[in-house]
Amino acid sequence: MMHRVVGLLTLVALISCGGPKESNQDTEVKEEKALIHSFARPSEAKVKHLNLIASVDFENRVLNAKAHYDIETSDDAQKIVFDTRNLSIAKVFVDSTETKDWWIGPKVEFLGQALEITITPQAKRVSIEYVTTDGAEALQWLNPQQTAGKVQPFLFTQSQAILARTWIPCQDSPGIRYTYEATITVPSGLMALMSASNPTEIDSSGVYHFEMNQPIPSYLMALAVGDLVFQSVGANTGVYAEPSMIEATAFEFEDMQKMLESAESIYGKYAWDQYDVLLLPPSFPFGGMENPRLTFATPTILAGDKSLTALVAHELAHSWSGNLVTNRTWDDFWLNEGFTVYFERRIMEDVYGKEYADMLTLLGRQDLDKELKALADSPDDTHLKLDLEGRDPDDGMSDIAYEKGYFFLRTMEENVGRGKFDQFLNEHFSDNAFQTIITEEFLTHLKEDLLLNDEAKYKELKIDEWVYGPGLPDNCIEVSSTLFEQVNAQVGDFLAEDGKAAAIDTANWTTHQWLHFLRQLPANIGIVKMKDLDNRFSLTKTGNSEIAAEWFLRSIENSYSLADDAIEEFLIRVGRRKFLMPIYTALAEADLTKERATAIYAQARPNYHSVSSNSIDELLDYKGDGHTSK
Ligand code: BES
Ligand code: ZN
Repeated sequence: MMHRVVGLLTLVALISCGGPKESNQDTEVKEEKALIHSFARPSEAKVKHLNLIASVDFENRVLNAKAHYDIETSDDAQKIVFDTRNLSIAKVFVDSTETKDWWIGPKVEFLGQALEITITPQAKRVSIEYVTTDGAEALQWLNPQQTAGKVQPFLFTQSQAILARTWIPCQDSPGIRYTYEATITVPSGLMALMSASNPTEIDSSGVYHFEMNQPIPSYLMALAVGDLVFQSVGANTGVYAEPSMIEATAFEFEDMQKMLESAESIYGKYAWDQYDVLLLPPSFPFGGMENPRLTFATPTILAGDKSLTALVAHELAHSWSGNLVTNRTWDDFWLNEGFTVYFERRIMEDVYGKEYADMLTLLGRQDLDKELKALADSPDDTHLKLDLEGRDPDDGMSDIAYEKGYFFLRTMEENVGRGKFDQFLNEHFSDNAFQTIITEEFLTHLKEDLLLNDEAKYKELKIDEWVYGPGLPDNCIEVSSTLFEQVNAQVGDFLAEDGKAAAIDTANWTTHQWLHFLRQLPANIGIVKMKDLDNRFSLTKTGNSEIAAEWFLRSIENSYSLADDAIEEFLIRVGRRKFLMPIYTALAEADLTKERATAIYAQARPNYHSVSSNSIDELLDYKGDGHTSK
């Protein structure tokens, strides 16, 4: 049922009239900026608590839901506005009485549509009955064949950055937080999990109840349903996975409790009680997603030797940077990710030693240099503080936020000393807990509390250049790694005319040393040397996804066709965008007709989540058969 559609003019008026009269200018400015990717007007009416009642229908691939929202209103509130995108809204209630006084706004590219509901300032609760559609980009419905067990279907969500609105009407700005509870009904024999208190066993009734009593932004709403089991790995840490994967998962993430305790010793108590990781099927589009209490993770980090678990440290670190202290807008994304990379490497240093962390940092620096090159024509996208107004926030989410953010914080740390910097960050997390911040507030805090208002020092550290300028300022700290230097020597020998793979001494090499080695190999090393390497080290067959992805890039650049089948198999099985993008890019560069890339993609695309397929559609300019544009 579609109600009156709000005209564009009304929408513009709505945006420009701002919040209630009594709010001061500062609050209004804050709110304006916080709402660049949301239709919500929280100063008029905002959600404080959500009670989501939903059933998961695998046959029709929809969620049937009723969402109840406890709201807080201003004295002159006339409406509450939600973000929606491709949802089918059936009924709306205000304080339990059905109302027809609601409107769906015009479609805005990637933002979706506003849902406005007329209320009075006395309203306490609104409820929305709705069904999701094929256009629910957050959701990925997997058939049994796409799971490890091959028997049961699977569903997972990915809400960050602005996809929560495709499965729940919500005030979808990272600046708006609320608590939630949910009752989710799933087919008998499956387990449902959320970013909340979770079950540890399958309930044969198929009905699960969840509570998240700490306020979170909507991009952290998450749900997964499948044939899942739980295994504890520590006092308040554990893993969920399909039964056939649980043992390998528990082994790989054995050190999680140590990581959690290390994190607490650096930046204060973990605020969310339990910390678990859910191992998803390989189509998960990210490495990890920091859903509170339950990180979602790709199975491509199961290397068998715990060598890719920095990712767990990263998602765990978000329990402070991101989930506790949240970027208020996606322009401030570096506050979430740069801090988290910094914290991740501190945890890894504490648990596995400085040499280990140095390798991660150097690989990060290589990623950063590559990203800076790739963004040479759009220098604004290399600022830490972004301007994403009118753009899909996904566009701004490059390695800049992660690695330039990291090197900025690391440069600050080295200048003031670790002790002082830690004290400052501890205060940052405790002062802003369960709140949101923007870059400018952080810089004020930094200037006043870390630099004690020393203007000269602020200038000397080039802080504004770091945050509001392009590229990498020249005071960026340098890092080195003795373990990588050993690799460099071997690369040199191997690249020499008479260099042979047999002479390379890889005893005790870690995954990171391998990555460094592979990254140093030129694009024209030639088939003979590629084959020699492969014969000695079986790189085409490696089970380590990071090493495989790097090897595949060299293989494509060098037209090493013996890796072709493995590349194709990988692209069809794995949906992690970070791997897919460079490999498809290399394939497209190696063959300008894009014939091979497109042929593989046509086969692989049904396995990908929309986050990945949207990016690769664009990369390959794909308009193939059966392509449904969402
Ligand atoms: N929060 C991000 C993932 C994300 C970012 C989802 C932007 C949607 C929009 C997560 O914490 C992350 O950074 N994941 C990385 C892991 C890594 C840097 C260790 C990933 O998935 O590669
Ligand atoms: Zn992250």
